[in-house]
Amino acid sequence: MRKRTDFLVIGSGIAGLTFALKAARFGKVSIVTKGAIDDSNTRYAQGGIAAVFSEPDNFEKHIHDTLIAGDGICNEEVVRLVVQEAPARIEDLIGLGVPFDKKQDGTYDLAKEGGHTEYRILHAKDRTGEAIEETLISKVKEDPNIDIYENHFAIEILTQHHLGVEVKRSNPHIKCFGAYVLDQKDQKVYTFLSRITVMATGGLGNVYQTTTNPEIATGDGVAMVYRAKGTIENMEFIQFHPTSLYDPGKKPSFLITEALRGYGAILKNMAGEKFMNRYDNRGSLAPRDIVARAIDNEMKIWGDDHVWLDCTHLDSAGLRDHFPNVYEHCLQRGIDITKDMIPVVPCVHYSCGGIKVDTNGQSNIDRLYALGEVSSTGLHGANRLASNSLVEAIVYSHMAVMHSEKRLKGLVIEEKVPDWDYKGTTHLEEMVLITQSLKEVQMIMSNYVGIVRSDLRLNRAMVRLEILYKETENLYKRSLVSRKICELRNLINVGYLIIKMAMNRKESIGLHYSIDYPKKSTSEFRS
Ligand code: FAD
Ligand code: SIN
Repeated sequence: MRKRTDFLVIGSGIAGLTFALKAARFGKVSIVTKGAIDDSNTRYAQGGIAAVFSEPDNFEKHIHDTLIAGDGICNEEVVRLVVQEAPARIEDLIGLGVPFDKKQDGTYDLAKEGGHTEYRILHAKDRTGEAIEETLISKVKEDPNIDIYENHFAIEILTQHHLGVEVKRSNPHIKCFGAYVLDQKDQKVYTFLSRITVMATGGLGNVYQTTTNPEIATGDGVAMVYRAKGTIENMEFIQFHPTSLYDPGKKPSFLITEALRGYGAILKNMAGEKFMNRYDNRGSLAPRDIVARAIDNEMKIWGDDHVWLDCTHLDSAGLRDHFPNVYEHCLQRGIDITKDMIPVVPCVHYSCGGIKVDTNGQSNIDRLYALGEVSSTGLHGANRLASNSLVEAIVYSHMAVMHSEKRLKGLVIEEKVPDWDYKGTTHLEEMVLITQSLKEVQMIMSNYVGIVRSDLRLNRAMVRLEILYKETENLYKRSLVSRKICELRNLINVGYLIIKMAMNRKESIGLHYSIDYPKKSTSEFRS
C-alpha cells in the first residue's frame, strides 16, 4: 500500500502537468488526480492567456494593468516577475504544440479583455483551455518518467504529525513527506511517499451554489494544507465572473467569455440601457470586480434575474469564427448570439487567495510547493486581471521545478510514516447526510458571503457553518473514507476561511465589498 516517488504532483490541470513535464527531466514523477486526467478548470478556460507579445504593448503596461485590477495590494515584485517571464513560458507551451490562433500575416491574433489596456491575450478560438490541456496530456502520457493515477483522491498531506509529533501553526519547521491517497476503484488508501510534493488542485467554486467551475473544484488543496497547519491567505477575494449564461439549474454555469466584450459586445439592463458607463468610464470593459458589482446592483434595483450582453451589432461571421464554443452552446439553448441578446448573471469563478507561496512556489511547509489557482503568489492582490491565471500557473511551475530539482538529492523518503488507519470506521449508508449538508454549505455561502457582504451576514454564515462543521467532523470520524465526505469536509474548511478572512477585513477593496466598511483603508491602517 506504499508508493515512492521523487515528485508527487496532486492535480492534472495546467499547473500540475507543466510542472510534471519539466520535473520528469530530473526524477520520477507521480501525478494523482481525482477524476479523469482532463477533469480540471483548465479545460474550461475560454478567453486565453495574457502576455506581452507585440508593440505597442510593453511589460510596464501589463504590470500597470495587473496592479490596477489588484486594487493596490498585489506584490509588485511578483507582478514584474510573472509579466516578464510570461512570453518565455508561453513559448514553452507553443514548443509543446499548443495551437494559439494566428493572423494571416503569421503573427499571433491577440485579444483584449476587461482591465487590459492593450491587445495581449493569446487564445485558441474560445477553447484555449482545451487546447492547452490536450497538448499537455498527450506529452505527459508519452513520458516514461511520469506515472499517472486517475481517480485517485488526495485525502491529506503527510507531515511530522503522522510521526506522532505535535505540529503547531506557529511551528516554522513543518515538512511534507507525501500524501494519503484514496484509490476510488478499490477504495484503498495508499501512502504516497515523496521527496517533493506539489499541490496543484485548482479552485473552489463549488463552495457556492452557482459557479463556472466543474465539480472537481472543491478547495481540497487549501483545506489539506490548512489542516496541516500551512499558511493560507486572501481567501476573502472570491472572483465573480460578470457574465455567465443565465440558465437556472445548469451545472457548471456556462461562461460567456470576457473576450466577447473585448470584441465589442455591450452590457445592457432589461430596459436596454448601456448601464456600465454610469459605474465606470471603461464601460463594459472595466475590471471584473467593478462590472460584477454593477450588474448585481442593476439586478437588485430593478428586481431582475439577469442583464443582457448584446453582440447583435457585431459582424456575425466574425462572431461565429472567433467564438464557436459560445455560439454553439448558446444556439443549443435557443439563443442565436448573432441575432439575440444573451441573458447573463455574475457567478463564482476564481479564488484569488490560497496557499501562501514564495517566488519559487514554496509554501511555508518545507518540501511542499503550491502552484496554480490553489496558490496565493501575490500576483492578483484583491482582484485578478482577466487571463492572468493560466500564465501565473506556467511561470510558477517553471520556478518550482528549477528550485526543487536542486534540492532533490539532499531529500530522503520518510519511511516511518504509518499506513492509513481504517479502525473505527464503517460504511456510510446515508448519502443524504452528505448531499444535504453540501447544499446547505452552498446556500449559506451564496446567501451571506456573496458579492456584497456585511458583518451581520458574515456572522450569520459563521454560526450556521459551525453546526455543519461539527456534524461533518463527527460523520467523517465514523465513516469509511470516501471522496464525497472528504470534499464536503474540505468545502466547509474553505467556507470557514473565506468567512473568517472576510470578517477580518474591515474595508472594501477589490472583490471584497462590505456595506459596513464601504471605503478602502489607507495601507497604514490595514491589519
Ligand atoms: P485545475 O485546472 O482546476 O486543475 C486542478 C486539478 O486538481 C484537477 O485535475 C483536479 O481533478 C485535481 N484535484 C483537485 N483536488 C484533488 C484531490 N483532492 N486529489 C487529487 N486531485 C485533485 N484563466 C485564464 O487565465 N484565462 C482564461 O481564459 C480562463 N477562463 C476560464 C474559464 C472558466 C470557465 C473557468 C472555470 C476558469 C477560467 N480561467 C481562466 C481560470 C483558469 O482556468 C484556472 O484558474 C486554471 O486553469 C487553474 O489551473 P490549475 O492547474 O491550478 O487547476
Ligand atoms: C474569460 O474568458 O472571460 C475568462 C478569462 C479568465 O477567467 O481569466
